[in-house]
Amino acid sequence: MIHWQSTIRRLFFVGFLSATLFAGAGGAKSDIIPPEWTIPDISALPDNEPAKLIRLGRDLTVDTHSLIGPGASPDKRYAGNALSCQNCHLEAGTKRFGLPFVGVATDFPQYRAREGHVGTLEDRINGCMTRSMNGRPLPDDSREMRAFVAYNGFLSTGPKQEGRGAGQLPELGRAADPKQGEVVFKQVCVACHGADGLGKRSAGTGAADSAQPFGAQPFGAPPLGAPPLWGPESFNDGAGMNRLISAANFIRSNMPNGVAWQSPLLSVQDSWDVAAFVISQDRPRKTDLDRDFPKRLEKPVDAAYPPFADGFAVDAHRFGPFQPIREKIRALQASMVTPTTN
Ligand code: HEC
Ligand code: HEC
Repeated sequence: MIHWQSTIRRLFFVGFLSATLFAGAGGAKSDIIPPEWTIPDISALPDNEPAKLIRLGRDLTVDTHSLIGPGASPDKRYAGNALSCQNCHLEAGTKRFGLPFVGVATDFPQYRAREGHVGTLEDRINGCMTRSMNGRPLPDDSREMRAFVAYNGFLSTGPKQEGRGAGQLPELGRAADPKQGEVVFKQVCVACHGADGLGKRSAGTGAADSAQPFGAQPFGAPPLGAPPLWGPESFNDGAGMNRLISAANFIRSNMPNGVAWQSPLLSVQDSWDVAAFVISQDRPRKTDLDRDFPKRLEKPVDAAYPPFADGFAVDAHRFGPFQPIREKIRALQASMVTPTTN
């Protein structure tokens, strides 16, 4: 039997590939990075309590909406928007360079520049709960948090592999251009995310029907709809996806949904510009963002909310180019460790 989801994807991309908009730039990265990517097999787990918790973690990742989002009972509602973790942590957090959870758990606890101290995996998950999901933190001892942690732990039982994050595309020597990005958006993204960027429900209903989830849930189901890229049901302005470098890499390696990181369809330039357009739109605001990155010189160059230690304006942090900012930060760091003589 032909898997109709992949057939649709193929048809979709054949159409895209003929468009001149795309620079077919596949292959470059695969010369450097070995192609293996192994994911522990969840279906091989027994039917005991630890395995149940792992499976619940997978389900929470895939269908956050109905388990702790708008589809859940009020006491279980922790997510503030209708996104699911999987909308960004693709394929239930198993897709290479699709912000996977694979290998993440072994890196925690870790020093977190955003908080200025060492944080646990629970803290990191709650970072996404309060920013990407625009919601409230899950208690560390809740069954849901224990399940997320168990699932991340399970996905981190294999060998250490290259494939975390969303890749590292070359930077432009100029600021990313949201106007140019709007052109790309209209040509490439509206088909799924909607002309208004507010997403389309998987039931085919409009963005206003909050009882329905967005995007390609459940895992393996037909790819109907897509999540919002901005607006009241999107991630808030403190989220990682609201930073240009994260967004451009995610989009380049994964969008249109279904592309593999080895064969991106968007050119490097279009990826930066369309990301600049997406992060220029209105979205929920997080309070107290000025408390992030208390050690100001550790603030990532693309965290585009003040205060800044480097003297560059908000738009320079939002759109780049980032190299001059990095150089300034390095100079400031050097002047801090070298005692002055006068
Ligand atoms: C809007 C997109 C988005 C959504 C939705 C989202 N996240 Fe994230 N998440 C990110 C980004 C971006 C990062 C930063 C990745 C990096 O540092 O490379 C991240 C990082 C993480 C990390 C650390 C990964 C690493 O490589 O260190 C964990 C764990 C995580 N998220 C869990 C979750 C969970 C659980 C949910 C759902 C409750 C969720 N996220 C929802 C975008 C999202
Ligand atoms: C084929 C349909 C399709 C196209 C075209 C497409 N996307 Fe997506 N996009 C999706 C789906 C579906 C998801 C969620 C993936 C999932 O849940 O498995 C997604 C997720 C995202 C996300 C993370 C989740 C969120 O809501 O913020 C971003 C950012 C994004 N897309 C940006 C873009 C941009 C920019 C373009 C145009 C360059 C684009 N997409 C083109 C279907 C598409």
